[in-house]
Amino acid sequence: MQKLTLTKAVFPVAGLGTRFLPATKAQPKEMLPVVDKPLIQYAVEEAYSAGIRHMIFVTGRNKRAIEDHFDTAYELENELEMADKHALLSLVRSVQPADMNFSYVRQPRSLGLGHAVLCAEHLVGQEAFAVLLADDLMVGPVGGPSVLAQMAAQFESMQQSILAVQEVPPEQTRRYGIVAVQAADAANPGLMRVQRIVEKPAPEVAPSRMGVAGRYILTPAIFEHIRRQATGVGGEIQLTDGISSLLGEEEVYAFQYQGKRYDCGSKEGFLEATVELALQHPEVGVHFRHYLKGLKLD
Ligand code: G1P
Repeated sequence: MQKLTLTKAVFPVAGLGTRFLPATKAQPKEMLPVVDKPLIQYAVEEAYSAGIRHMIFVTGRNKRAIEDHFDTAYELENELEMADKHALLSLVRSVQPADMNFSYVRQPRSLGLGHAVLCAEHLVGQEAFAVLLADDLMVGPVGGPSVLAQMAAQFESMQQSILAVQEVPPEQTRRYGIVAVQAADAANPGLMRVQRIVEKPAPEVAPSRMGVAGRYILTPAIFEHIRRQATGVGGEIQLTDGISSLLGEEEVYAFQYQGKRYDCGSKEGFLEATVELALQHPEVGVHFRHYLKGLKLD
């Protein structure tokens, strides 16, 4: 069988972002900045670091700013050039490296994550692809590979679908796809075979506490399985249900990544990401640490 290579990433960005209203009334939630970079850029950079060059956005109404962000800002670049602001110019240009390609497809209605992935089928074709949910800001270990790069390295040898997982507190199983797993390879304990996957189960019926984080590498067989799904949890077509059906045909793996996930779909997670990334920021980190130390918190 021909080896599958990972060249494409799908970013479902059509969601309304109601948890961040009014900030998201007229701008996409994926454009909210953590320190100085929009959430979507963190996800795109992560995909790039995993060797992916074709970025596919599944967008919706009011999401134009995402397209503009990854396009050439001609007037801005011109102004910066004229003003000899070369550092800023290269910062602006670094958002879209010359070897990065973008495609956009619209998800006309909010019918769920599975439906969003299906909207990208004609752009993905018969290839393996990654799915990155920009709400989940993932940071690899200091100086180490990004979470998706870790997954891509596993995929290279496994050639099977891989889901990023983390242990979640029991009271939070209702927020995640939850997997039941079985050890696969004693030499590689972070990678486990998925036996079952359930979308957002109550703690009493959750098969484990292993929750899916917003990073997936999927084989193209997933499309047919999503297509078969009726609406699931929340009246939406769930990617989790498609993966559950895929399990009848192919092996799927759960991967306990090295690094940290910030749930930037919630205000708390967004604030945690902001504080921690600000502390590491080369420009403001030292000052910000000093500022935080001076706060009288009780
Ligand atoms: C989605 C998926 C869920 C996954 C989660 C990760 O849910 O449906 O299976 O665990 O992302 O963030 P959402 O957060 O979009 O409700």
